[in-house]
Formats: sequence, structure tokens, C-alpha cells
Amino acid sequence: MSSEFEPKILAICCQWCSYAAADLAGTMRLQYPANIRIVRVPCTGRIDILHLLKPFEEGVDGVFVSGCLLDDCHYVNGNYKCTRRVAYAKRLLEQLGVEPERLEMYYNSSAMGPQFAQTCIDFTQRIKELGPLFSSDAACDAA
Ligand code: FES
Repeated sequence: MSSEFEPKILAICCQWCSYAAADLAGTMRLQYPANIRIVRVPCTGRIDILHLLKPFEEGVDGVFVSGCLLDDCHYVNGNYKCTRRVAYAKRLLEQLGVEPERLEMYYNSSAMGPQFAQTCIDFTQRIKELGPLFSSDAACDAA
């Protein structure tokens, strides 16, 4: 795949842990790819299947959810619910002919700034290897 491909990636982070981890990564001046756009939610349990699928329709190449560590959700079990929704959405993507690896669930505590930065680096690399979700050929075919 061309090294010029810069994917658009959406990260949906819970405010209590993963958003704080992203903040910590910034405070620690850790570098992670500029491809990531973060949306903060109160808890990953708030994330609906449509929130996971709609970004792909809007042209995003990859989506990851980052929640609190398992058993550390501030709303008891929101991250467990989201884990199941992500697994279901991955199956839907597969049925639609989209690589399910474009969607992932991670867990980062507020103290895991370096791990969050590494998550961003690893996921961006994964999406770069997969290539654009919609190639320009597909766009031409659709026109
Ligand atoms: Fe973080 Fe629920 S509050 S996943």
C-alpha cells in the first residue's frame, strides 16, 4: 500500500479513563499520529451500534473505542456492553464486505497515557496496511 495514504480514524473514548489517558499522553508530550480524531463520551456503554457504523459511511477508514479497564467502568458494566456491541458491529461489517479489523475495542485507564499513544500508533499502522476503505476506483464505479 502507498505510504502516502493517511487514514481518517475516529477514536471514541470514555471521559473517565481513556480520554484522561489521551490527555495524559498530551501532557507527557508523547507523539501519536495526527490521523486520530477523538470524540469523548460519558461511558462506552453509551455507544450504540449506529455510532460504530455511521462513521464508515461518512468516509472514516477506521474506528476504535477506548474504555475503562474491564471491571473499572464508572457505570459498572458499560465497557462490557460496548465490548459486545463492537463484536456485533464487526460481524455486520464483515457481512457488508468491510474488513472487521477496521473496528476495535481497547481499554486504557487514566494512568495509561503511553499505552494510549501506542494504541493510536498501532491502530493507525493497521489501517494504513488495510488501505483506504473506499478506493478512488470504487468512488468512480459508484458515480
Ligand atoms: Fe469508562 Fe464506562 S465509564 S467505560
